[in-house]
Amino acid sequence: MSASSADGWIPEIVVGIDFGMTCTGVAYSMGPDWPEPKPLQHWPGKMISELANKVPTLLQYDETTGIVRAWGFLCDEEGEDTDIIGYFKLHLDPSYSDPRPDAPKLEQARKWFTDYLRCIHDHIEDTFSNSFPRWRSLRTEFVFSVPTTWKNPSMIAETEKLIKTAGFGSDGPDHRVNIGLTEAEAAAVYASKHQFEKDDVILVCDAGGGTTDVNILKLESSRGEATRLKQLSWVEGCSIGSALIDMSFQHKVSDRLERIKSHLRGHPHSIADRMVHEVPGMDPGYSFPQASIEDSKMVFTREDIKELFDIQIKRMLAVVDEQYDRTHKNHPGAQIAYLVLSGGLGSSPYVRQCLKEHYDTGPGSLRPNAQDTKIVTVAEPQLAVVLGLVMDRVQTLKSGNVVFKERCCRLSYGVLCMEEYDPNNPAHIGQKVTADPRDGKNYVEEQIDWFVKQGQNVSTDGVLKPYTMKIEPGKENGVWQTHVVMSQAPREQLPSSLSQDGANRLCDIESVLKDRGVDMKLKNRHWYNRKKSYLRAKFDVKVILGAADLKFQLQTKDNTVISKDHDPIHVRWELSKDSSTDAGHGLAHMYKGK
Ligand SMILES: Nc1ncnc2c1ncn2[C@@H]1O[C@H](COP(=O)(O)OP(=O)(O)OP(=O)(O)O)[C@@H](O)[C@H]1O
Ligand SMILES: [Mg+2]
Repeated sequence: MSASSADGWIPEIVVGIDFGMTCTGVAYSMGPDWPEPKPLQHWPGKMISELANKVPTLLQYDETTGIVRAWGFLCDEEGEDTDIIGYFKLHLDPSYSDPRPDAPKLEQARKWFTDYLRCIHDHIEDTFSNSFPRWRSLRTEFVFSVPTTWKNPSMIAETEKLIKTAGFGSDGPDHRVNIGLTEAEAAAVYASKHQFEKDDVILVCDAGGGTTDVNILKLESSRGEATRLKQLSWVEGCSIGSALIDMSFQHKVSDRLERIKSHLRGHPHSIADRMVHEVPGMDPGYSFPQASIEDSKMVFTREDIKELFDIQIKRMLAVVDEQYDRTHKNHPGAQIAYLVLSGGLGSSPYVRQCLKEHYDTGPGSLRPNAQDTKIVTVAEPQLAVVLGLVMDRVQTLKSGNVVFKERCCRLSYGVLCMEEYDPNNPAHIGQKVTADPRDGKNYVEEQIDWFVKQGQNVSTDGVLKPYTMKIEPGKENGVWQTHVVMSQAPREQLPSSLSQDGANRLCDIESVLKDRGVDMKLKNRHWYNRKKSYLRAKFDVKVILGAADLKFQLQTKDNTVISKDHDPIHVRWELSKDSSTDAGHGLAHMYKGK
């Protein structure tokens, strides 16, 4: 993103928000000096003298009215009348599957997310309107990080709506909301401010409550210069975190209680929820070795706890190893100089110790690019994301230099189009072929022109995609459609048509070309042309790949961006299940090529 947005708007204050699975952080910086970002440290429910860098991601509802009764530190863990809602971040991702029968549904998680963000919003509003008298009239940019595990850009569009519903961007005429970096990228920006040297390759591993994100980067700037980072691989996130350790601890406890449930007053699961060591409702003096209970207290050995940590750590090592291997494959000479840990779980000395052993003397040490790896933990592990998020934005505002000039694409994106039929092309065998009377050629429909492939480095300014369209004369006023598809498949396995597995329709771009300076020529217009005449339009679509979202811009061949005022492009994200039936049908057809 450039310093200013398309309309020249530049914020006076940037407020970053990192919505976490267990806790949420807010930090800000203000122009014209843009000092190091400061985290909010005063939260409702804490004494004025008590500082906390983050606030718990918890909500409590009034059961009769359904109104939010408390949030964050105000939630009353002791009160038994209403449940405390937490750990719902993973459920915001429609592709996350929770095997529990009572797992919250997507709609439910979205409601909690919006309600929680409203509390955060109101608190920010309260704090800033007390500190800055002109707060409402300040040009304010709220920038949100995106969980690295969220891969589908349509989810980002959806989340942006929820953020706005929660009140962000509507307190003043000049308040705006922006989706910034993925958590992995933001943690990397913060980590890179440490004392690394130009050309150092670093692997950043942000292990939080619910997710662990990894990112491999090369520092391209020297000390004292604006930070420039090159992604050597695409960011990866997976559900590994300390909250999952807490959850498996609870499962372990209920599993033990299940074995002695005839001796309990209550359900093993709900007792496990409230239990510390003493088993609630059990008179003193009872021992049940089959449930590791001695004198009515459940005993946990170091081994028991270690086992729970080790499950997560083993998965974490697998993800990090995969990044090492991928980097070695694509950048054979690169040595990973530092493995930088951030996040709450990343700050655990035990986790650090395990990683150290793995890469110093364990199986990880056999990797050719792990020979010099040193393991370091960032200064403020839990604030890495929110501080990095604001630092990234501030650097662009201050110096005009973006941290990530390019992004390593983690998904492949393509466009549905017609392709000239080639009987020798194996991909065309069995495909639907139609003859075009306008040029007398045969075409196969619903072919995918992959314009960005996984692992490709793409400028954050966007990529241009040239198009040709054939439009029936008289229908040039119509809306044309481009069907965008995406795939998570490895780039060698990308399907060539929508009829094969591996690609999903992502969105439809709708636009009108007429009177916008688009090169439009009438073909077959002479009396001697026997074929049907048509308008051939040539233009470019610019696709801007954000951290996790996509934006489209329509350009004429001479690079003029077609007026933003009457937005020529409309993106439909929510495609109905059966919308694939209208694939390829607009008033015009898209053709591959220039
Ligand atoms: N030393 C430690 N060892 C293990 N866990 C820790 C340690 N310190 C903090 N944590 C855990 O870290 C978690 C919070 O970390 P963090 O703030 O990075 O997560 P988050 O941002 O809420 O989660 P996510 O980024 O996955 O959404 C808490 O669950 C806390 O128990
Ligand atoms: Mg986090």
